[in-house]
Amino acid sequence: MSPRGQLILIEGLDRSGKSTQSSILTAKFSKSKLLKFPDRTTKIGSIINEYLTDKSVQLSDQSAHLLFSANRWELNNEIIQLLNEGYFIILDRYIYSGIAYSLAKYEFSKRNANDSTVTSTVDEQIGDVNWLIGPDLGLPKPDLTLFLTLDLAELSNRKGWGEERYELQEFQTIVKKSFLRILPTDTDDSIEIVDVNNKNIEQVTKLIWDIVEKKGVNALTENPIKKVSI
Ligand code: TYD
Ligand code: MG
Repeated sequence: MSPRGQLILIEGLDRSGKSTQSSILTAKFSKSKLLKFPDRTTKIGSIINEYLTDKSVQLSDQSAHLLFSANRWELNNEIIQLLNEGYFIILDRYIYSGIAYSLAKYEFSKRNANDSTVTSTVDEQIGDVNWLIGPDLGLPKPDLTLFLTLDLAELSNRKGWGEERYELQEFQTIVKKSFLRILPTDTDDSIEIVDVNNKNIEQVTKLIWDIVEKKGVNALTENPIKKVSI
């Protein structure tokens, strides 16, 4: 088989600059494609879009979690095919957002349910990382994952903030903690944390490109496509 393209994931908090950086990175490759998750253009994506934009839409946390994962599975074949055709695929959010946001919901509702007169409605699956990763097992695993992180104070000053479900400062603080807890940076050298505090777009682009080159994900590879596993 001829060499394949590589799969590069940019993760981060809402408004951390992921989308800007993933577009810039995509343009660095002559044969590339940018995929953004959730992909709101698919069948399942349209349900997710309603859920995110209309706060009256009711879904259990488990079903929301499974929909986000199903939305990734909708693109599974396309990702594999494009990589095999030599495309570099840049992902704007993927499996780690899936786990971190659900886990954060669990922590958030636990925090707000500590009044002993109120029966807790927290669902244990949503606090269980093994349960959360389950539906994503077997999806293509990124060759490189970059997590863009910044201080919450800087984040809340950025524009366009607070329009959708999840975009609350208290919630984002928990999301950040959840990401840092679940990203296996010690044991998995395909995952890097990129601190974007006080850095402009060009500086972050350079940081990212330096890592991409250092890790050798800027060229075609003979390595088989990896799969998400525990
Ligand atoms: P979106 O707003 O499209 O991304 P961005 O904020 O980077 O423009 O993402 C919508 C929300 O969906 C975002 O708050 C993160 C959340 N999310 C999940 O809860 N689970 C997932 O699996 C994914 C991919 C996103
Ligand atoms: Mg958003």
